[in-house]
Amino acid sequence: MIHQRLFNVYNSIPIELIKGSGFHLFDENGQRYLDFYGGHAVVSIGHLHSHYIKALQDQINKITFYSNYVNISNQERLSELLCDVSGYEDYKLFLCNSGTESIENALKIASFHNRKKKIIAFKGSFHGRTSGSTSITDNTKILAPFNSKHEVVFLNYKDLLSVEKELRKRNVCALITEGIQGISGIIDPGDFFLREIQNMCRYYETVFILDEIQSGYGRTGDFFAHQRSGVNPDLISLAKGMGNGFPIGGVLINPKFEEFNGMLGSTFGGNYLACVAAISVLEVIKNENLLKNVKIIGEELLKHLQDIPHIEEIRGRGFMIGLRFNFPVKKLIEVLINQEKVFVGFSYDPYVLRLFPPLNLTKDNVKLFIKKLVRSLES
Ligand SMILES: Cc1ncc(COP(=O)(O)O)c(C=O)c1O
Repeated sequence: MIHQRLFNVYNSIPIELIKGSGFHLFDENGQRYLDFYGGHAVVSIGHLHSHYIKALQDQINKITFYSNYVNISNQERLSELLCDVSGYEDYKLFLCNSGTESIENALKIASFHNRKKKIIAFKGSFHGRTSGSTSITDNTKILAPFNSKHEVVFLNYKDLLSVEKELRKRNVCALITEGIQGISGIIDPGDFFLREIQNMCRYYETVFILDEIQSGYGRTGDFFAHQRSGVNPDLISLAKGMGNGFPIGGVLINPKFEEFNGMLGSTFGGNYLACVAAISVLEVIKNENLLKNVKIIGEELLKHLQDIPHIEEIRGRGFMIGLRFNFPVKKLIEVLINQEKVFVGFSYDPYVLRLFPPLNLTKDNVKLFIKKLVRSLES
């Protein structure tokens, strides 16, 4: 859609949403859409969850903003709850406002720690759009010359030999990988690869960073996708599902990293509203047992998807699913949105569409989605 006064960088669909409720969205004509995309994997506990809305409303009636010039005790509450729900009990939290900021700060923490600057990233990666995070993203189209000066090596995904070859030079600050590669088409690194790169990073004293911005916050049925593999990264980047749509990001930091006054900072990071949004998301994940729900309903979704012809491969797990079809999916996505009124997402692989339903999805809505998908494939 072309706007007159906006810098037109988005290829958005011409739908104006005016309301959300649970798994559904409504446009200006009252048309209902089933949301299996969550606005780029952001909506974790559904639209307008009552606990989330109440927490934000209560906070709005008290104080909406002051900076880190003062003590904001909900930051401490959020970090305690996050460490509890995620199982990273001795880690510390730095709060910022988005995924790309989380990545920038993780890179800085790593570089302050070992005073090095070379980063290993993988082909197919996406880590954000600010300077450092663009430079470690495998997409030259979004790399301005200004961002191209960082020292970055892109290795083939899952190629352990080339990782070791690079680490052996002992000049690598950090290695970064996504919990599951998202935009490149939902590609799971596998347990063996994650364990081996962790071992190598430890041996060669390179910081091991996990980008869980898309794959974290319960998406896969584990709090973080990497937890199935039993690895413990040094730094974990968070955003997206963390605030259910309220902008917030963070870095979970192993206690071995030492902070100093002024090392990192953000005007908006950890603000009152972001903190209550994030606290209420974690409370809902915990109180409604949503990790278990993702596992159970995820199995149900998988069972139905396996019966659908044309799907060549089902990728990912839980509610981070990539469907690889035996034809390019552009048309199918259009039919799903325009005729069947269901939101799904594209990927950089023209044959793969992505699904990110809310973590509290029900069986009935799985069935509804499958019905719509089957009908779209028949049309
Ligand atoms: C894996 C991953 N990392 C980083 C980012 C950047 O997050 P943000 O758009 O909040 O800056 C994204 C966003 O899509 C992502 O999927």
